[in-house]
Amino acid sequence: MPKVKVALIGVGNCASSFIQGIQYYNKPEATQPGLRNPTLAGLTPSDIEVVAAFDVDAHKIGLDLSEAIFAKPNNAPKVCDVPKLGVKVSKGPLLDGVGESTKALIEVSKEKDVNVAEVLIAARAEIVINLLPSGASNAARFYALQAIAADCAFINATPNFIASDPVIAGQFEDAGLPLVGDDLVDQIGSTALHKTLLKLLSDSGVHINETYQLDVGGGNESVDTMDRTRDAKRTIKTESVAAALSYKTQVVAGSTDYVDFLQNKRDSYFWIAGTYFCNTPLIIDLKFQTVDAPNAGSVLFDVVRAVKVAKTKKQGGAIEAISAYGFKRPPKMLPIDVAEAEFKKFVA
Ligand SMILES: NC(=O)c1ccc[n+]([C@@H]2O[C@H](COP(=O)([O-])OP(=O)(O)OC[C@H]3O[C@@H](n4cnc5c(N)ncnc54)[C@H](O)[C@@H]3O)[C@@H](O)[C@H]2O)c1
Repeated sequence: MPKVKVALIGVGNCASSFIQGIQYYNKPEATQPGLRNPTLAGLTPSDIEVVAAFDVDAHKIGLDLSEAIFAKPNNAPKVCDVPKLGVKVSKGPLLDGVGESTKALIEVSKEKDVNVAEVLIAARAEIVINLLPSGASNAARFYALQAIAADCAFINATPNFIASDPVIAGQFEDAGLPLVGDDLVDQIGSTALHKTLLKLLSDSGVHINETYQLDVGGGNESVDTMDRTRDAKRTIKTESVAAALSYKTQVVAGSTDYVDFLQNKRDSYFWIAGTYFCNTPLIIDLKFQTVDAPNAGSVLFDVVRAVKVAKTKKQGGAIEAISAYGFKRPPKMLPIDVAEAEFKKFVA
């Protein structure tokens, strides 16, 4: 298959790691630790080409993408130099992209908005990846419709209801374009780790009486979450974790706070209390530290390549097999092992 041409909505921390990852993995497969699938559907990460990008921040608009990804307030770690990509960051419409608490971090550019669909068509983009702040629900819907207008598939990495919205999914189905989402799963996410621990324990006959997982982060997304989406994220994560058990118990999972000096790091704290043989108590109390933006890279590479397969097959509407594998709130939730098997079957 030819290169996969993608457009990025939002040149924040995730975009930075994604673009650096394409550069970092532009080498033979044998030297590629860190990827779940070095090759998928015959495609490697270096088959992915970013052909357009949109933002609103004056620090990024008009810059070559290779420079914009390192502009403030981005704080994802720099892992490699990125050569000039020949793609300038275009000014998209602001809509609800900036919340009260991120106003101090993002300086909205005074440049005129571009016509997003026209830019996508001119760049020959095939897939649009939504990497807006999680509170930007109107902007997420706007860009999804621009993707349809430009004959592009849409990947919604944000927690906004896009793939799980039957009306929007219906519009993609009518247009014969793939749609996947919502809320990208991390490569090694706290939700997946929590679910795996609970499954291991309950498969071993342990009864879970109560469990929580709370985290603090230092990226801009954590500021936006505090302000606009903490409750929604807590609902998504709690439902997802609770689904790992076949019975009801006390479960809380969600983002709690912003700690600026953590930079792009995330600290997740887990508490699990249960009982095993003859009601003997068991406690798990642990901390897990990751860096946020690189944690999105591997799954995003997989999802992009799978969506390319879906687009080549001309599959329209919400694609369940990709969404259940790569997202925390897919239109149809499947157990982790079933989702993985369905995904592999889909791309095979
Ligand atoms: N591991 C992860 O980092 C991870 C995992 C799952 C989901 N996500 C989701 O990915 C999304 C992006 O995360 P991030 O850490 O890169 O966020 P970020 O805050 O670093 O980046 C968001 C970017 O969007 C830009 N923006 C704001 N309004 C805009 C508009 N109207 N048009 C175009 N651009 C606009 C901002 O200027 C910023 O550059 C979030 O919704 C997050 O929940 C991230």
